[in-house]
Amino acid sequence: MVVCLASNQDIRVRFPLPALQNIQNMNKKIRVLSGTRPTGPLHLGNYLGGIKGYLDLQERKDLDCLYFVADLHGITSPYNPDKYPQQIKELVLDYLACGLDPKKSHLFIQSQIPEHLELAYYFSTLYPVSRLEQLPTYKEKKLEQPKYINLGLLYYPILMAADILIYKSELVPVGQDQLPHLELTREVARSFNHYFGQTFPEPQAYLTKGAYIPSLTGEGKMSKTKEDSYISLLDDLETIRRKLAKVPTDSGKGKKIPANGGVYTLLTLIELFMTSNQRKRYEKEYLSTGIKYQPLKEDLAQRIYSYLKSIQEKRQYYENKSDLIKKILKEGNTYASQIAKETIKEVRKKMGILHNF
Ligand code: TRP
Repeated sequence: MVVCLASNQDIRVRFPLPALQNIQNMNKKIRVLSGTRPTGPLHLGNYLGGIKGYLDLQERKDLDCLYFVADLHGITSPYNPDKYPQQIKELVLDYLACGLDPKKSHLFIQSQIPEHLELAYYFSTLYPVSRLEQLPTYKEKKLEQPKYINLGLLYYPILMAADILIYKSELVPVGQDQLPHLELTREVARSFNHYFGQTFPEPQAYLTKGAYIPSLTGEGKMSKTKEDSYISLLDDLETIRRKLAKVPTDSGKGKKIPANGGVYTLLTLIELFMTSNQRKRYEKEYLSTGIKYQPLKEDLAQRIYSYLKSIQEKRQYYENKSDLIKKILKEGNTYASQIAKETIKEVRKKMGILHNF
């Protein structure tokens, strides 16, 4: 669906450029892009819902992967400017610890590529405010941080569209909650192409199996901002045990298999850290004899910890290698910057923004 800005339409179609003017070189790699906000230690939800997708895709030779730290998005929620630089560094470490391979992907920091902001501004002239106000993520944030409802929060998806389209990315590994933002990105791309000529692809989301990881409290999804809702990637076995022990459970017998609540969270973790068959077995047990939660939680704690252990070891490896990390970010930055500059040049020209007298 093309965004219809009837009143401005005349202005935008004044200089229609031939469609498909930039026919993509067929041999070119497909570009992949994603980012995460540096709002604190990553948790299982971030990993399974997002980062795992980054890792799958970096293995494919036909793809060109760019991953970044979304520090400009991070400041739309309350944050501490003294601690923020450290959080950015921690996220870079987490990325590398999870297996992001600088030989296979490009890693950079959003704010170091100012063209994201410029493109976001251009996009903001294409998209109606009323539609931004309807986005579920915006409505949730308004409830979550009633004293911090700022313009950046409303603008969030526009900046995200710019993050994606500045690299003409076609595939975006994200968690399920980001799908409305991807839809908006496609609308923005269509709208721009309609008014100014074919420029941007319409990117697709890449969802992993664990795209939605429910909270340990049984309400909503795992979230960094909700204490007790998540298992951090850095948690030790004892902490994981303690957190799982708190997951609310019930006897089940004679009821339906839950689609939310603590038992649903456990069933999801069983499927992810054991197998689908195990999940079916536990579902049967839930409805008949009831689940023995204590041994189940212990088993899950062990499995989750053994999974996280290798991430924690890799993180330790990178912790004292600041020169190496600088080098990785510099390479990523140079690569991203060169693509972003090219796109901005093209966009300015197409939009009739005077670039030289
Ligand atoms: N909004 C994303 C999140 O909260 C982070 C993000 C910012 C992003 N820009 C992006 C993800 C571009 C993918 C592509 O998880």
